[in-house]
Amino acid sequence: MATGLKGIKSVRDLEVTEKVVFLRLDLNVPIVDGIIGDETRILASLPTIQFLKEKGAKIVMCSHLGRPKSKEDKEYSLEPIAKRLSELLKAEVVLWDDVASDGVKSLLHNMKKNQLVLLENVRFEAGETKDSEELAQVWASYSDIYVNDAFGASHRAHSSIHALPKLLKTNGIGFLIEKEINMLDSLLDNPKRPYLAVLGGAKVSDKIAVIEKLLDIVDGFIIGGAMAYTFLKAKGHAVGKSLVESDKLNYARQMIERIEARNKTLLLPVDHVVSTGISDTKAARTTAEVNISENELGLDIGPKTIKLYSTALHEAATVFWNGPMGVFETPEFSKGTFAIAKALAENSGNKIVGGGDSAAAAEASGFAAQMTHISTGGGASLEYLQGDKLPGLEILRTKVRT
Ligand code: 3PG
Repeated sequence: MATGLKGIKSVRDLEVTEKVVFLRLDLNVPIVDGIIGDETRILASLPTIQFLKEKGAKIVMCSHLGRPKSKEDKEYSLEPIAKRLSELLKAEVVLWDDVASDGVKSLLHNMKKNQLVLLENVRFEAGETKDSEELAQVWASYSDIYVNDAFGASHRAHSSIHALPKLLKTNGIGFLIEKEINMLDSLLDNPKRPYLAVLGGAKVSDKIAVIEKLLDIVDGFIIGGAMAYTFLKAKGHAVGKSLVESDKLNYARQMIERIEARNKTLLLPVDHVVSTGISDTKAARTTAEVNISENELGLDIGPKTIKLYSTALHEAATVFWNGPMGVFETPEFSKGTFAIAKALAENSGNKIVGGGDSAAAAEASGFAAQMTHISTGGGASLEYLQGDKLPGLEILRTKVRT
């Protein structure tokens, strides 16, 4: 059973007026040459910021961006994000450079009504990823309340996620985390049936924990992406030069048996889009059947597979989708992934998409708006579903109990 949000306070239960609220967000968005590519995470953070603003809190926001080696890595500055937040909130967002100093106190003392603080990239400080208590103490020295709304980073035991809430008695989560957990819990607690998990991506090894967790919950698995070739090879099919995890062939064999023993569905590709190399788009062709010739590799599911998978998905009442069906970034190998997104868009059930690559695939398909929920956290959503405890949530739960 999912532990969900039990014992964790929501921001709406906290007395925030006139208080300094330290708000951890996940504003880790793609930025190239100062231009934000996908602002989903920024938009998803707005409800909590707006709420705190309307309640009259003094807001100090923080986030990581990428994995900088030092504060000299200027391309990891939050400057473009501060600018965008300022536009979206119609407020002044002061970007505070010195993450590890308490100099921000004087600003907070004289804070104007329509002003918010955004600390520079917390990973500019080496202590952040080391869960440094010393760094957390600086933040705690000027904060009254801690709110975590950084779902995508809640699987990290980092200073702004884990050490800080230990020091601040009053803490809770924002609306984004609340929504994420409720959505993911709907995949674990009494899901409507039939319930299918669509798993794709490169490796079986990345998905073992989630397969194990979902094995007794779902009614079936639909497998695509490169991980499908390990399953097909385990069944004795020819997979040519396709990516195969040889050390996972036994696992795949056993998994096929365990799924069959439970009378559950396991759909694997019956045809493919193949080529002689990942960048040989000119040599791309559709196979007539499941076997792949020696000098080719599978790069997408084929049309018969699309039909098979779409039919199953149209009948499902709950779907969890994690991982693309092929190399969807290349138009020649994108049809399978986009067809899955279309089939989900045509389904009126509960359709939840994992973050990371799957979120990017749903966006690229043009069907993102028709999904019930697309997680803003890749690693975090998978870890939560697998049953792992997210440090960023657990620390808040413990705190409330003591
Ligand atoms: C993500 O993009 O998945 C989150 O922002 C976490 O980032 P990280 O993997 O660098 O910790």
